[in-house]
Amino acid sequence: MKKVLVVGSGGREHALVWKLAQEGEVFCTPGNAGISDSCPTFNVPASDAEGLAILAREVGAGLVVIGPEDPLIAGVADDLRAAGLTVFGPPAKFARHEASKAWSKEFMHAAGIPTARSDSFMDFDEAFEWTKSRYDAGRQVAVKASGAALGKGVVVTSTLEEAEDALRAMLVDGSLGAAGNTVVVEDRLDGREFSLLTLVGASGFRSLPVVQDYKRIGDGDVGPNTGGMGSYSPVGWVSADMVREVEETIVAPAVQAMRDLGGDYRGVLFSGVMVVDGKPSCLEFNVRFGDPETQSVVRRLGAGFLDALWACASGGPVPEVETNGDSVVTVVAASAGYPGPVQKGTPATVGPMPDGVFVFHAGTSRSNGTLVTNGGRVLAVSAAAPDLAAARRAAYDGVAQIRFDGMQFRTDIAL
Ligand code: AMP
Ligand code: GLY
Repeated sequence: MKKVLVVGSGGREHALVWKLAQEGEVFCTPGNAGISDSCPTFNVPASDAEGLAILAREVGAGLVVIGPEDPLIAGVADDLRAAGLTVFGPPAKFARHEASKAWSKEFMHAAGIPTARSDSFMDFDEAFEWTKSRYDAGRQVAVKASGAALGKGVVVTSTLEEAEDALRAMLVDGSLGAAGNTVVVEDRLDGREFSLLTLVGASGFRSLPVVQDYKRIGDGDVGPNTGGMGSYSPVGWVSADMVREVEETIVAPAVQAMRDLGGDYRGVLFSGVMVVDGKPSCLEFNVRFGDPETQSVVRRLGAGFLDALWACASGGPVPEVETNGDSVVTVVAASAGYPGPVQKGTPATVGPMPDGVFVFHAGTSRSNGTLVTNGGRVLAVSAAAPDLAAARRAAYDGVAQIRFDGMQFRTDIAL
């Protein structure tokens, strides 16, 4: 049986473990309370490349799958490959898409990838002048911290004053620390969004089912941005032709441009897409599976996922991954205060789940045998059913079985 080591501790990693365990023997580090019910877990942190290499050899893992962006940005995939391991996860050189939006936007412009017009700045006056020129031209802008800011780095503005405030906060007041030392000012796009996760290997790529996530904390898309409060798949309004167009105009040019820069991208390329007047535009690239997109996507997959990741990592052609006919809705249960600071260690209970519902753990741990919260996003209730309406009902029946003090969740996922 094929052995795989999954690195990470969130809902995304629990979803990867859940799927991969159907096709191989899985290990995870550091994991969380839910993951440790599904497979052996260890306490090597995701940032410890040397420790991960030793662990991978000890358990006999032929494949290491790196979940989160931070170790990828830090070059853990490079270090593990240098140690002779087969790794699903791009090199630091291309994890830069997440470390520097300024770099990623330049990359998109240079590769001819459709994306909102933008420029990047370190100086407030220059940034303001550009922003004012865009408002004078009748546009609105999004102000983005260039560095990784955990989903809090984007301010979509409607007036020059709002944009000025955002620029001042990031560039003058340092509200986001080093992440906001450089900002990207980008034309605002108004359209519909979806995420496309594409498995990329040395000789080709293959996209997974289209999925949509919900970034704002509140029902009706109000309040601050989060890591993601829910997701669903399939996304009815995204046609097969639209997916093909995104692959042709966004994914393929990106993969080619990275090849031209010298280096293999072996991992998942996450394209955040906004469709305006029927035309897709790239909002961002992420270099890892989306969370909570992955929780919905894996439940729509049949056989072949492990083989596909293995093929990407080892340089072969990427085989097809089967999909089932299900619709999936995933609802995230978050701690009080999220996406701000949260209290950890709150006891949580998970009651019996309806048919087709699985609970992925995100921020959980065990304290003296009791399940407790251990982060902002705590649990992701994922329901698979023959249609979206049934999946939605089942997901919320599942949410009703979860209890912890201060629990918050959106009631409009997939509505
Ligand atoms: P990002 O981290 O770049 O994907 O931005 C987070 C969210 O901000 C996106 O999912 C969009 O909802 C929104 N956003 C980002 N860029 C723009 C833009 N140019 N116009 C409108 N909304 C945007
Ligand atoms: N849910 C969005 C992300 O993973 O970045």
